[in-house]
Amino acid sequence: MHEQFPVLFSPCMIGNVKIKNRICKAPQTSGLSNLDGSVSPRLIRYYEDLANGNVGMIIVEYAYIDNLYSKSASNQLAINDDEYIVGLGWLADTIKNLGSVPCIQIEHCGRQRFLGPPMGSASPIPWPLMYERYGSAAIPEELSIKEIDAIVEAFGQATLRAKKAGFQVVEIHGAHGYLITNFLSPFTNKRSDWYGGSRENRFRFLEQVFKCCKSYVGEDFPVIVRLSGTDYEPEGMTIDDTIYYSKRLEELGCAAIDVSGGDHHTMVHQVTPMQLSKGHNVWAAETIKKEVSIPVFATGSITLPEYAEEILEAGKGDFVSLGRPLFADPFWAKKAYEGRPEDIVPCIRCNEGCLDRGNHLGKSVNCTMNPILGFEDALAIKPADKPKKIAVVGGGPGGMEAARVAKLRGHDVTIYEKRKLGGYLHEASVPEFKADIRNALKYLTTQIEKLKINVVNENADAAMLL
Ligand SMILES: Cc1cc2nc3c(=O)[nH]c(=O)nc-3n(C[C@H](O)[C@H](O)[C@H](O)COP(=O)(O)O)c2cc1C
Repeated sequence: MHEQFPVLFSPCMIGNVKIKNRICKAPQTSGLSNLDGSVSPRLIRYYEDLANGNVGMIIVEYAYIDNLYSKSASNQLAINDDEYIVGLGWLADTIKNLGSVPCIQIEHCGRQRFLGPPMGSASPIPWPLMYERYGSAAIPEELSIKEIDAIVEAFGQATLRAKKAGFQVVEIHGAHGYLITNFLSPFTNKRSDWYGGSRENRFRFLEQVFKCCKSYVGEDFPVIVRLSGTDYEPEGMTIDDTIYYSKRLEELGCAAIDVSGGDHHTMVHQVTPMQLSKGHNVWAAETIKKEVSIPVFATGSITLPEYAEEILEAGKGDFVSLGRPLFADPFWAKKAYEGRPEDIVPCIRCNEGCLDRGNHLGKSVNCTMNPILGFEDALAIKPADKPKKIAVVGGGPGGMEAARVAKLRGHDVTIYEKRKLGGYLHEASVPEFKADIRNALKYLTTQIEKLKINVVNENADAAMLL
């Protein structure tokens, strides 16, 4: 049993697949695939670190399932054709060979198409952001029964491709305002046929998708579903709806429910910034967990292992699913396991490099706290050819990080800083709603101490440096 984090590092089953610990990588589109959606060396390299970082199960970012309107963003991963199986196999094997369980999320974007029109949804209600950009062209087409049938089939075939590629689990994306949520939520589903109206009818599309996926891969292959506890929309999906959907999914043979929250219109509830509470959607996982007996994932703003352990220990979830925290530090789980959580580069929930990159996913992922993300080889910290004596003038976050990297490269480093180390992080982290920044300050200060970097509390001038 792990001394510091006994529940976090205990194994657990998802269907018949054993997961070595309770830490999952939450699916997060990275923009690191090739333009045609195939797996790229950059994508592989990024997932390699996560698997080496001791993550129990990696839920690979959403992959689009058909050739019509399911694709959401540029460079999104594709699973819509058999020709992608080879590349996906390379990715699944890489993850598995490094000791993690490979899972992949399959998705249809519905009305939330970053690429713009055309879009298909349950009802012709546009995503406000797209409506601002494209006007009435962004009003989605109301899918016909024939089109719905084709999409259900595409989900099934995508699941089979995932299995053929070597993924051990498939996650259906039923959260965050994408097509399945467009049906589940009364906010976006105004249909009068058997897909709209009652809870039972709104669930029908997901039910058909789920059954079709299972029919392609067999009873033994675990298929899980991601749901939003609520979409936080006026007259939208309530937690009672989600309890109903979860129970129905359990009856149908779903192996686990991954509970997130919000959609893209209520993004602050999905990718919660530092101004909002930590564990923002954990309440929903806790509620669902009381109603089903399959594993439940708690997700969102669980940035540090102490808090993850607290959630699991209190029985609010069976797994924690971490997104941004593993952007900031793919070795989060390894460091926690090795009893050095103080070395984890903390996610400060600033959303600048991941969510807001290039006006909403216009560029590949990056991270304020982890400049190496997406450039794991090009920017790897390597020993210097010739160790030097280096003065870092100014001990703010930039100076501290420069000193840390220089020291790790083998240089003899001195920081000159008249005030205390940390620069404006001190002022920036005073308000309670910016408390996450304190974690960055603590992390950097600890690293400077642990690396025994010299600190001179004086102004440096040219003469002194000479
Ligand atoms: C850049 C980015 C991409 C995301 N892509 C996906 C995705 O592909 N599928 C999904 O279900 N959620 C996606 N999400 C939501 C995350 O999986 C996660 O639920 C959210 O970031 C909150 O968790 P965190 O606080 O641990 O980051 C994305 C979030 C971000 C910031």
